[in-house]
Amino acid sequence: MKILIVGATGTIGKAVVNALSSKHQIIAAGFDDGDVQVDLGSKSSIEAMFKSIGQVDAVISTAGLAGFAPFNELDDAAYDLALTNKLMGQINLVRLGRDYVTDGGSFTLTAGILSRDPMPGSVVISTANGALESFARSAALELDRGQRVNAVSPVFVKETMEMMGMDPASGLSAADTAKAYVAAVEGEMSGKTLDAPDYV
Ligand SMILES: NC(=O)c1ccc[n+]([C@@H]2O[C@H](COP(=O)([O-])OP(=O)(O)OC[C@H]3O[C@@H](n4cnc5c(N)ncnc54)[C@H](OP(=O)(O)O)[C@@H]3O)[C@@H](O)[C@H]2O)c1
Repeated sequence: MKILIVGATGTIGKAVVNALSSKHQIIAAGFDDGDVQVDLGSKSSIEAMFKSIGQVDAVISTAGLAGFAPFNELDDAAYDLALTNKLMGQINLVRLGRDYVTDGGSFTLTAGILSRDPMPGSVVISTANGALESFARSAALELDRGQRVNAVSPVFVKETMEMMGMDPASGLSAADTAKAYVAAVEGEMSGKTLDAPDYV
């Protein structure tokens, strides 16, 4: 398959590229790096990316910006970032990408465990993650030409915890997290949220 990975240069994205590149042709998209650049927060940038690469068999997103902050301190900009980038950016990959994905092709988006297991400071991230799960579940009913859409829900990634100076013991490695993305792309499910620990 020819697979576009948006966020391919990130912690999870690099592991997904590693997991898929021996069997599939990968087009790596990043914000600054990668084969092609895209800004998820801009519809015209997403459209330009699809125009420049043409048809693909699958689109994976391992991108999406949203920030931690206490509920009392969340301002409009914090909501805007999560809603325009992590949420609508990934939804727009499906809306604008449908015409560029082959019959039977798939979209795999990234939500996250904080939708169902929130923590103080996670309000906007949890909100975006929950909406992404609902988007995949509902849009799957109406995608035509056999196209599929799913969301992967990662837990805290060990490498991210290490970067943040946390004990990574409770996390899942990026390589193990990538297994859920492989399952979503190579499987036949649609409308599902794939909890990353279930695919290790
Ligand atoms: N890491 C975790 O513990 C964890 C846990 C649960 C959920 N998640 C979710 O998983 C996703 C990836 O997380 P990560 O930790 O792998 O992220 P990351 O290491 O920060 O990587 C982010 C990736 O997204 C790209 N990117 C940044 N801004 C972008 C924009 N405006 N438009 C398009 N691409 C952009 C980056 O490209 P450049 O390298 O070119 O800047 C990079 O490839 C996020 O949605 C995150 O919420 C992560």
